[in-house]
Amino acid sequence: MPDAPRSFLFLLGSARTGGNTEVLARAAAEHLEPEVPQRWIHVGELGLPPFTDRRHTGDGTTPFAEGAEQIVQDATLAATDIVIASPLYWYSVSGSIKNYLDYWSGWLRVPGLDFKARMAGRRLWGVTAHGDDEPGVADPLAGTLRLSAAYLKMDWRGVLLGYGSRPGDVDRDERARAAAKTFFEDGVETPDVLY
Ligand SMILES: Cc1cc2nc3c(=O)[nH]c(=O)nc-3n(C[C@H](O)[C@H](O)[C@H](O)COP(=O)(O)O)c2cc1C
Repeated sequence: MPDAPRSFLFLLGSARTGGNTEVLARAAAEHLEPEVPQRWIHVGELGLPPFTDRRHTGDGTTPFAEGAEQIVQDATLAATDIVIASPLYWYSVSGSIKNYLDYWSGWLRVPGLDFKARMAGRRLWGVTAHGDDEPGVADPLAGTLRLSAAYLKMDWRGVLLGYGSRPGDVDRDERARAAAKTFFEDGVETPDVLY
């Protein structure tokens, strides 16, 4: 999969549409090559039910996905690059993104899906907007994504960070706008959080 033609999945986690995180993610995505497919999913609008932990119920396997779960599972496995575009909520990812990530735990236990092996080598990226003017507040979000990527042997590519509270504020964050231009470039060594 790492050598497959690139395709990007953007998972939008804000509890509002058109917010700062989405604007920043779209600004970065504009610099992808035009032939690279992009799929955008508002995770909160998918109707994904709260994740159920079945690890120690019955035989411990997870039933095959259907409905919203199937849509997001298929999209995840079809992408070489997964971009978690979540606003900073309580220093971490939003609830809808956390619920999506919790599903990964279930997908590890779907017979025949081979989720862990198939995720290895895919790239994981983060984009976030925060309302506090101290950028270190995003460290827990970056840590969540970095460690989750490491668990699945994914290639962790770092977090693009923007500052803003009201929708549109991030347009005035010149550092974030400049960083967005090169964020998805290959070979750029990204720290956990791109300040
Ligand atoms: C539920 C909630 C929790 C938030 N928690 C934080 C936080 O922990 N740190 C912070 O800097 N901003 C926090 N904010 C502010 C948002 O990160 C900020 O408004 C951001 O621009 C929202 O992104 P969006 O426009 O993409 O929705 C929070 C906002 C909400 C609604």
